[in-house]
Amino acid sequence: MEKKIKTSVKSLDYYGRGIADLPKKTFVRNSLPGEDIELVITKEHKSFDEGITTKLLKKSPKRVPSLCPYFPKCGGCDLRHLLYPDTIDYKINNIKSILKDYINDDTLINIYKSKNYGRNKITLKVSNKKIGFYEKSSHNLIEINACLNVKDSINKVLPYLKSLNIIDGEVLIRSNYVNKLLIAIKTNNKVDITPLKSLTNVEGIILNDKTIYKNDYFNDKVDDYIFKVSYKSFFQVNSYINGKIFNILKSELDTEKNVLDLCSGVGTLSILASTFSKKVYAIEINKSNYLDSLENKRMNKVENVDFLLGDAFTLLNDIDDKIDTIIIDPPRSGISKKGLQSILDYNCEKVIYISCNPITLRRDLAHLTKRYKLDKLFILDMFMYTYHAETVVVLERRK
Ligand SMILES: C[S@@+](CC[C@H](N)C(=O)[O-])C[C@H]1O[C@@H](n2cnc3c(N)ncnc32)[C@H](O)[C@@H]1O
Repeated sequence: MEKKIKTSVKSLDYYGRGIADLPKKTFVRNSLPGEDIELVITKEHKSFDEGITTKLLKKSPKRVPSLCPYFPKCGGCDLRHLLYPDTIDYKINNIKSILKDYINDDTLINIYKSKNYGRNKITLKVSNKKIGFYEKSSHNLIEINACLNVKDSINKVLPYLKSLNIIDGEVLIRSNYVNKLLIAIKTNNKVDITPLKSLTNVEGIILNDKTIYKNDYFNDKVDDYIFKVSYKSFFQVNSYINGKIFNILKSELDTEKNVLDLCSGVGTLSILASTFSKKVYAIEINKSNYLDSLENKRMNKVENVDFLLGDAFTLLNDIDDKIDTIIIDPPRSGISKKGLQSILDYNCEKVIYISCNPITLRRDLAHLTKRYKLDKLFILDMFMYTYHAETVVVLERRK
């Protein structure tokens, strides 16, 4: 039997876990500052341990019962034991403390909460016919019937998945602005997709990267722009918050100026920027994203955007035009050293850095702030009830 340990919780860490000072520092899921808890260790490390609360001995006044029956076992959410406004406060404090060396009293800080809107994408694991999510840092599958973080249109598919004969594999479901669905299945089992065909809103089914029903893409919408999104292309998971990023860009761009959009995905920000700038150059490394961006240029009847396929941090040196503003939205790993140097070499007026990882953002700001001042910080709740937060920083060239 697992050993039960009693302790009290001091504070929350970056991952939304309570910190307890046992002989080794222990990070405990589903615990809050000020609580006395009983816990079990779930993973041991050399200098710290990870654990999960098994019993609450003294509750925090901030604790609320989780509306999700799978929390905290399911690894999808980190903060379901807090009220939504408290999850926002937690994220604001987190980001402010991570970026403290770069923000000061003059920095404009704006917060965008999410609406109860739901993610537009889910990736479910299937193991031994059970469908759900893995426990945090484990391959133990927690079977689920619905996920509170996704759109209803996605949850409505879940009961059908059980009858497809998938024993082991993965199912990706995406839902667009009018709740049309794309379903991509990966498995070695013989699958019968007939039950899914009775759902009238299915736009496409893809099995092991082969389209077996209708299309391998759908169109989605942000603002008044329409975007082709192939099942394996990147598209922000929270369309409401994506719209807020659009609004930030609108107020930061200038119709007289040229923009370079690095890591441009299917071209969402580049196409939006084309309306509010003179000329846009966009670079994306993933072919599926790039091909969608060409189609998106055509569908939105945009002339002043050039999409390029390749490594943004190499190709940016080939652009033979004056760039005034760089928009960069890198993956969680942030910007490479070479990329940071190339951005500094451009010496443009403004850099708008969109980040889903404040830790790599902080690392990259150490370089960028040699030439730029952090002027505005936007904190956006792209990933509700998780520890993750999206940030947009507007960097102005120092005088
Ligand atoms: C967070 S997404 C942002 C996409 C887009 N800006 C949007 O808002 O939808 C990051 C994108 O960077 C692309 N990417 C990653 N490394 C890259 C690189 N070295 N050069 C160009 N694009 C890259 C990924 O394929 C992905 O599309």
